[in-house]
Amino acid sequence: MSLYQPSYQGLISTRFLEITKKAMDIRLLALFVMFVAAPAAALASNPVGCASTCGDVVVPFPFGMTTGCYLEDEFNSFMITCNNTLQPPEAFLWQSNVQVTNISLDGELTVLSYSARGCFDTAGAAISGNVEALLRLPKFPVSYTRNKFTAVGCFTTALISGSLGVHTYTTGCVSLCDSIDTVANGSCNGIGCCQSSIPQGVKDFTMSINNPRNDSILSTFPCSYAFVVEEDAYNFSSLDLVDLRGVSMFPVVLDWAVGSETCEEAKTNQSTYACTSVNSTCIDSSNGPGYRCSCSSGYEGNPYLLDGCQGTISVYFWSLNLFRLFNNVRGFSHYLY
Ligand SMILES: *[C@@H]1O[C@H](CO)[C@@H](O)[C@H](O)[C@H]1NC(C)=O
Ligand SMILES: *[C@@H]1O[C@H](CO)[C@@H](O)[C@H](O)[C@H]1NC(C)=O
Ligand SMILES: *[C@@H]1O[C@H](CO)[C@@H](O)[C@H](O)[C@H]1NC(C)=O
Ligand SMILES: *[C@@H]1O[C@H](CO)[C@@H](O)[C@H](O)[C@H]1NC(C)=O
Ligand SMILES: *[C@@H]1O[C@H](CO)[C@@H](O)[C@H](O)[C@H]1NC(C)=O
Ligand SMILES: *[C@@H]1O[C@H](CO)[C@@H](O)[C@H](O)[C@H]1NC(C)=O
Ligand SMILES: *[C@@H]1O[C@H](CO)[C@@H](O)[C@H](O)[C@H]1NC(C)=O
Repeated sequence: MSLYQPSYQGLISTRFLEITKKAMDIRLLALFVMFVAAPAAALASNPVGCASTCGDVVVPFPFGMTTGCYLEDEFNSFMITCNNTLQPPEAFLWQSNVQVTNISLDGELTVLSYSARGCFDTAGAAISGNVEALLRLPKFPVSYTRNKFTAVGCFTTALISGSLGVHTYTTGCVSLCDSIDTVANGSCNGIGCCQSSIPQGVKDFTMSINNPRNDSILSTFPCSYAFVVEEDAYNFSSLDLVDLRGVSMFPVVLDWAVGSETCEEAKTNQSTYACTSVNSTCIDSSNGPGYRCSCSSGYEGNPYLLDGCQGTISVYFWSLNLFRLFNNVRGFSHYLY
């Protein structure tokens, strides 16, 4: 039987489409990157007259740098201060010294936070270092899924404490090492480096390093360090026991949300409801109060702006048809056999 009998055409093309679905997905992805990503980036642009970048940082609404350009709330949570005298310019939360390195419309924000550092003599007495370090944030909680509290040192007890709603908490970890030979690169297993999880709902924290034991290892590694860090952004090395390879600040991911009510409550007042775009949906925050907005499936852009979400579906079908046409012209179906 000939492959080219009309009755088999449908079957072949259906099977072909099934078999090549994976390949097609990859091609479509490439097409998406070409045709969708660029317009989506343009769509994410800010209200008229509002700058959308500060140095390397993209600042999408509800964040903004000048009055009228950010969503207003009691803390000015969405205000970003851009210091243009620095080269390249750097972005800061509010008028604080907390530097912002990335803002994502997915509800994440990356800031830089200092490490606590404590150095001790062999008798265990503090000799130098800012034994405490803190981050104070009025609104956005530290992501408990994306960060780890980390301590580096030999004979180190590091604590993190902070506020959790109306309560306070303290947790931490212990790192020991008898000799450098027991330390393994890339592993925070309690030998030279330890990690612990961050509780849910933490908005501010203080880190401290406790007076270590009276031990001779302190003559080799007198300093201990404690910091909160984006989990994927830190890879322990034995070199860190000396001076943290010269790093003093680490990226910390915060979860941001709008308002303090749930989606259901927020929708009752359309004058303050932040998901202003048609084809946007509301998602209750999973870490702390408030909600965030997202474009409905098949739409992309900035859900916090009027008409911010734009359809990608037409582009999808257009790409699909182009792909089919391409295959018919090239007669790709013979690859099946
Ligand atoms: C910008 O940074 C410079 C250098 O650190 C500092 O002197 C200046 O006060 C900053 N400007 C603002 C507006 O924060
Ligand atoms: C910013 O954050 C988003 C979401 O977390 C991530 O996909 C993106 O790669 C980040 N960009 C940079 C420059 O780190
Ligand atoms: C530390 O240990 C040494 C010898 O093990 C001892 O001489 C010294 O008194 C100790 N110092 C303290 C502060 O305990
Ligand atoms: C971490 O470092 C170790 C050794 O230094 C290396 O083998 C590993 O691939 C690194 N991991 C990451 C995620 O960079
Ligand atoms: C860890 O890696 C550094 C260089 O990346 C190396 O100098 C050091 O010896 C390694 N330490 C261990 C314990 O393997
Ligand atoms: C909606 O919010 C605005 C601003 O907070 C307020 O003035 C108004 O009374 C609210 N409307 C209702 C129906 O709650
Ligand atoms: C997008 O919004 C328009 C206008 O409100 C509506 O007609 C359409 O059904 C929406 N599409 C989806 C997929 O929700």
